[in-house]
Amino acid sequence: MNIFLTGATGFLGGRLIRNLLEDGHTVYILARNLDKANTLKENLPFSLQGSVNILQGDIVQPNFGFPKRIVEQLMNKIDIFYHLAALVKFDHDLRDTLMEMNYQGTKEALKVAENIGADKFIHVSTAYTVGVSNQGEEKLYDLNQGFNNPYEESKALAEHEVFRYQDKMDVSIFRPAIIVGDSKTGEADSAFTLYGFMRGLELFKRRLERKASMEKVHLVGSKNGTSNLVPVDYVADILTIAATEAKKNTIYNVINPAPPTNREILNTIKHHLKFDDLGIYEKGTSFLLSPVEEQLNGMLNVFEPYLDRSISFADTNTQELLAESPVAHLNMTDEVLNIIVRAYFEPNMGKVHV
Ligand SMILES: NC(=O)c1ccc[n+]([C@@H]2O[C@H](COP(=O)([O-])OP(=O)(O)OC[C@H]3O[C@@H](n4cnc5c(N)ncnc54)[C@H](OP(=O)(O)O)[C@@H]3O)[C@@H](O)[C@H]2O)c1
Repeated sequence: MNIFLTGATGFLGGRLIRNLLEDGHTVYILARNLDKANTLKENLPFSLQGSVNILQGDIVQPNFGFPKRIVEQLMNKIDIFYHLAALVKFDHDLRDTLMEMNYQGTKEALKVAENIGADKFIHVSTAYTVGVSNQGEEKLYDLNQGFNNPYEESKALAEHEVFRYQDKMDVSIFRPAIIVGDSKTGEADSAFTLYGFMRGLELFKRRLERKASMEKVHLVGSKNGTSNLVPVDYVADILTIAATEAKKNTIYNVINPAPPTNREILNTIKHHLKFDDLGIYEKGTSFLLSPVEEQLNGMLNVFEPYLDRSISFADTNTQELLAESPVAHLNMTDEVLNIIVRAYFEPNMGKVHV
């Protein structure tokens, strides 16, 4: 098939493109940065490189900024349009940019897909369009439900826009939870979500070491609350199966059915970061934060909505999608969590960003 892919130079896109090429598809990638796209292509096995076509453009530009000849070249050629490109940041002060990239960008992607006559539009959203609710379902959420940050809201608005195209294309939405490294190697090309959190802790530990501080510090959260981590290879495999098996007008939650608790995650991080003096104060109990702890919690406050609760996500549609496939429903063991966290803190073990 001929596949159009946005976000190929990103964490998830880099895995997905490889799968799609290995399955024999021809891929057209949208890239705003040609150097990055060329590096991605050069790093693929030589035998796959010939099936990659790089198109320069930007999702926030009308028609991605494509010249007319590119639109003509793509016309009636694309079987599947995967839309992954987004800004994955939770900061409230990035609201305008998040709305532009994730909401307007998706509107633009839908228009381009329609203009070039794509048959199928596979949209990658996030499980956290669930907003402030603790019950994740495989249906569109009410936009008035309340969101923790503009990232969630921008992605929820985008989902509604995707479903407005139901009569024009075969649309489906895939909602991964928190994407982490490869389940076998731990490799992760990401600076966001869990990686932003681990980076924050790493910087904070260094700061304490510079001050020769012996103080025990606490994050505020729910020890038994869970964080829904999903390995990147699992998400990419599901999106690959989606090429042929996704049902139209359907939403798939790509989640961990037995997610680790925050206590387990923090203990694993503490172990590999060698940060014994780190603890959790249970939210809702009585405690007094020291000035240093205020700083720590302030620095990591964008992660707060994800550390103090447990969300239960339905994933029946995903299980049905997997039932006929060689990919098993996720069973992320403690050992896999260990590999993923270790790969971040021990650079020789896997590919780790600086
Ligand atoms: N990471 C997670 O934990 C997570 C969880 C759930 C859902 N998701 C969703 O999964 C998708 C992929 O996320 P990711 O983690 O792979 O993100 P990522 O590593 O930050 O990659 C984002 C991709 O989008 C591209 N992009 C951003 N703005 C663009 C623009 N204006 N025009 C064209 N391309 C643009 C980036 O291009 P450059 O290389 O040029 O920057 C990059 O290829 C997103 O839709 C995200 O919302 C991610």
